[in-house]
Amino acid sequence: MSSVADLRNENASFGDERFRLLVEAIRDYAIFMLNPEGRILSWNTGAERIKGYRADEVIGKHFSIFYPEEDIRRGKTEMELEIAKREGHFEEQGWRVRKDGSQFWADVVITALRDESGRLYGFGKVTRDLTKRKLTEDMLRLSMEQLEEENKCRIEAERSAREAEVSVRELSQRLLQLQDEERRRLGRELHDSVGQLLVGAKMALGALASEKGRQNWEQQLADYGALLDLVMREVRTMSYLLYPPMLEEMGLRTAVESYLDGVRQRSRIQIDFQIAKDFGRLPRETELALFRVLQEGLTNVHRHSGSPTAQIRLRMENGEAVLEVQDQGKGAPAVDFKLGTDCIGALGVGIRGMNERVRQLGGKLEVFSSARGTTVRATVPLQTSAGKDWNASAAVSGV
Ligand SMILES: Nc1ncnc2c1ncn2[C@@H]1O[C@H](COP(=O)(O)OP(=O)(O)O)[C@@H](O)[C@H]1O
Ligand SMILES: [Mg+2]
Repeated sequence: MSSVADLRNENASFGDERFRLLVEAIRDYAIFMLNPEGRILSWNTGAERIKGYRADEVIGKHFSIFYPEEDIRRGKTEMELEIAKREGHFEEQGWRVRKDGSQFWADVVITALRDESGRLYGFGKVTRDLTKRKLTEDMLRLSMEQLEEENKCRIEAERSAREAEVSVRELSQRLLQLQDEERRRLGRELHDSVGQLLVGAKMALGALASEKGRQNWEQQLADYGALLDLVMREVRTMSYLLYPPMLEEMGLRTAVESYLDGVRQRSRIQIDFQIAKDFGRLPRETELALFRVLQEGLTNVHRHSGSPTAQIRLRMENGEAVLEVQDQGKGAPAVDFKLGTDCIGALGVGIRGMNERVRQLGGKLEVFSSARGTTVRATVPLQTSAGKDWNASAAVSGV
């Protein structure tokens, strides 16, 4: 076994040489020395491998041969040595040039070397080739940026889709509101002006009838009279079908009963109304929506079905209000009543409007039609968000 003193001795005699061999053998780092002016004094395997020059090609040359022309013109090499001299060392990452002119991304450390008296005798330079790592990092950064960009686009697209949905919703709500107002106006107009005009026309015809005329004159006038009677009844029925009852004050049950009484008096349809005993008041919008479905449904029975009978049913089922308007008319086999989420078929405004109203309350509208008749069914859940809020605040105030 060798003593510590032995080892120290051995180190002193062989240290320098062994260290030189070690540095020369290193492959992954270019390690070499420069004199104070920047001329190359030594060269190792790593330097040869990374930069492509053999020792005899570079020894004595200025180290600026490793720099892009632009850097040399800007005096970068002098500046690096200046900094190393002043601060002890200089460090950076940047592009360097190989013997074959190709560039590599280098991690460079230049260290000033001084003797014991502090005199500068040269520089040590260690360079690593980080091209692969830099390319990987650049690619990673690029794909991160792309990802971020795509994410932004996606969020933007989602946002505008949501906005579009909201504006369609608002639009359809506004349309339904306008429809309500329009109906009110139409109903009044039909009754006040058209109805009165028809009465006047009939009276005029009656006056004419008393005058002597040509053959069959009386018969013709009587026919006109009968025709006008028909028109008057039709107008009365239509205006009543459109007429908005005192829904808010009376509630759905009473409003429907009195509405149907009016329709029965004015039309020839025999209407049967069944309402569950426990059917009480519902939220305002639900009652209005159900009433509009009833009006529209019954108007369709009157206008399209030719049915002499109709049944209206109102009941609660699994926490949902259910309204059915059924007739025994000729049906509408040609009409596609499939009411999906996007109801853009060739349907009329009436059924689409009913569908939209019911959907706004989280419910659904179904239409079944065959040659033996048509049934419209509206189902509206009562646990709407508004209802929940009401329950919650009631519970709180009960504490
Ligand atoms: N009860 C019914 N009996 C027969 N056909 C009906 C009935 N309800 C609706 N339809 C048919 O469906 C179509 C669409 O109805 P709707 O959406 O209310 O529009 P509109 O009444 O304005 O025509 C009607 O034109 C009619 O052909
Ligand atoms: Mg209609």
